[in-house]
Amino acid sequence: MSNNMDIKNICCLGAGYVGGPTCSIIALKCPDIKVTVVDLSKERIAQWNSDKLPIYEPGLDDIVKERRGKNLFFSNDVENAILEADLIFISVNTPTKTLGNGKGRAADLKYVEGAARMIADIAKSDKIVVEKSTVPVRAAESIAKILSANRKPGVSYQILSNPEFLAEGTAVNDLLNADRVLIGGEETPEGQKAIEKLCSIYEHWIPRKNILTTNTWSSELSKLAANAMLAQRISSINSLSAVCEATGADVSEVARAVGLDSRIGSKFLQASIVASYWQQVIDMNEYQKSRFTAKIVQSLFNTVSGKRICILGFAFKKNTGDTRESPAIHVAKTLLDEGASLKIYDPKVEESRIYEDLTHPLICEEPEKVRKLVSIHQDAYTASEGTHALVICTEWDEFVTLDYNKIYAGMMKPAYIFDGRKILDHQALIDIGFHVQTIGRKLHRPISNRCWSSNPTIN
Ligand SMILES: NC(=O)c1ccc[n+]([C@@H]2O[C@H](COP(=O)([O-])OP(=O)(O)OC[C@H]3O[C@@H](n4cnc5c(N)ncnc54)[C@H](O)[C@@H]3O)[C@@H](O)[C@H]2O)c1
Repeated sequence: MSNNMDIKNICCLGAGYVGGPTCSIIALKCPDIKVTVVDLSKERIAQWNSDKLPIYEPGLDDIVKERRGKNLFFSNDVENAILEADLIFISVNTPTKTLGNGKGRAADLKYVEGAARMIADIAKSDKIVVEKSTVPVRAAESIAKILSANRKPGVSYQILSNPEFLAEGTAVNDLLNADRVLIGGEETPEGQKAIEKLCSIYEHWIPRKNILTTNTWSSELSKLAANAMLAQRISSINSLSAVCEATGADVSEVARAVGLDSRIGSKFLQASIVASYWQQVIDMNEYQKSRFTAKIVQSLFNTVSGKRICILGFAFKKNTGDTRESPAIHVAKTLLDEGASLKIYDPKVEESRIYEDLTHPLICEEPEKVRKLVSIHQDAYTASEGTHALVICTEWDEFVTLDYNKIYAGMMKPAYIFDGRKILDHQALIDIGFHVQTIGRKLHRPISNRCWSSNPTIN
C-alpha cells in the first residue's frame, strides 16, 4: 500500500461482540472497501456465515445479510486476510487474568500478543495495525515491539489506538451514531498519515467534528478512564439504593432529582444488580449483588434449601446473549449454594451457555449438582410453574408485559417476586397477591396480607 492510497482492504482479527458489529457497519457504510473478519474459532465463523449469528444485537441481522458475500466476509483463512489487508483491526478478547500476577484484576493480553505475532509472521507488505481491544496504557508499545522484532525485510507498520465504546444490546445504534470516535497514533508524519487513513473510513458516516485524534497513550487511557467513570456512577447509585432501602426514600426518585442537574446528567443513574469491571468500585457492586441475594434468602424464611426458584434473564443486560460478568451467575450460584433448585429462562442465552457458566470451576466444585438442580426453560410461564419465587435478573422488555395473573396462579404460595432490575409495576403485582422486593425501595403490603411474614414491615 503506498502511503497516499486510500484503504481498500480491511482485516479484523476477532469475530466477537466488537469485531462482528464494527466491521458489519464499516462494510455497510463503505461499500468500496472489502472487509474480512477472521477468527480462530471455526464454530464462530460458521455461525457468522449462517442464518443464526453467534451474537444477538438488534438490527445486526439485516446489515449482515445485506453486505455478506458482497464486501463483508467471515473466514478462518487468517493468512490470506492478513496478506491482502491494508489495515488490520485487533479486536480479540482481553479477559481478566485468572492466574498469576494481577489475577482477578489485570487484563490478560495473551490474545493481543498472539494476534500481533500472527501479523508479524504473515505480513509481506506495509500495514496499519489498529488496536481496538481494550488494553492497558502502552499496550501499543508492546504490539510495536513484537511487530518490529519479527518483521520481514522492507515491511513497516503503523500502530494506532482506536478503542471501541459500543455497549452490547445497542451496538448497531452506538456504531452508527457514535458520540465520538477516538483515534490515537504517533506524532510522526507517518503516524499522522495513518490516523488520516483511519479517519477517512469513519468519515463515511461520522461527522469529522466527532472524530478525535490524539497521541496513542491518550487514546488508550481515555478508554480506561471512560470505563472507570461509568463504573463509578453505577457504584454511586448502587450505594444510594442501600440508603434508600434503609430510610424509605425511593432510589428512582432520588436518581431523577439528582440527574436533572445538568452538571450531573441522568444517564447511568439506574440502580440495578449490575456487575462492574473496575477494581476501585467493584466492591460496591459486589455488595449490591450480595445484598440482593441475601434479601431473597432472608425473605424466604431464611432458607431456600429444597425450594424451587425461577430466574428470569441470564444475560448481563437486555438485547444481548452475552453472559460474561452477568449478575445472574452470582445470584444463581448463591441460591444453589443455599440448596435451592433453579428454573431458568432467558430469551437469547443458549442452554449450553448457562450450564457452562454455572459449572465453571470458579463458580462450582460439583458440576453434577448443577445439572441436577438447574433446568432451562423456553418461556417464563413454564419456568415459573411450581416455584416459590421469581427473580428478575435481566431487564428484558418481554418480562414487563408477562401475564402475571397467570404466573401467580401457577406458583407456590406465598409467591414472591424479586425485581433486581426495577422494571415491573410493583403495585400491580402486590394487588395480584405477590410479595415484592426490589432494589432501592421499601415496598409495603396491606396489613391483612402481612400476617404470615417473618418481618412485620418489609416483605
Ligand atoms: N463486548 C463489549 O461490549 C466491548 C465493548 C468495548 C470494548 N470491548 C473490548 O473489545 C475486545 C473484544 O471484545 P469482544 O466482546 O468482541 O470479545 P469476544 O470474546 O466476543 O471476541 C473475541 C474473539 O477473538 C478471537 N480471537 C482470539 N485470538 C485471536 C487471534 N489471534 N486471531 C483471530 N481471532 C482471535 C476469539 O476466538 C473470539 O471469538 C476486548 O478487549 C473488549 O474488552 C468490548
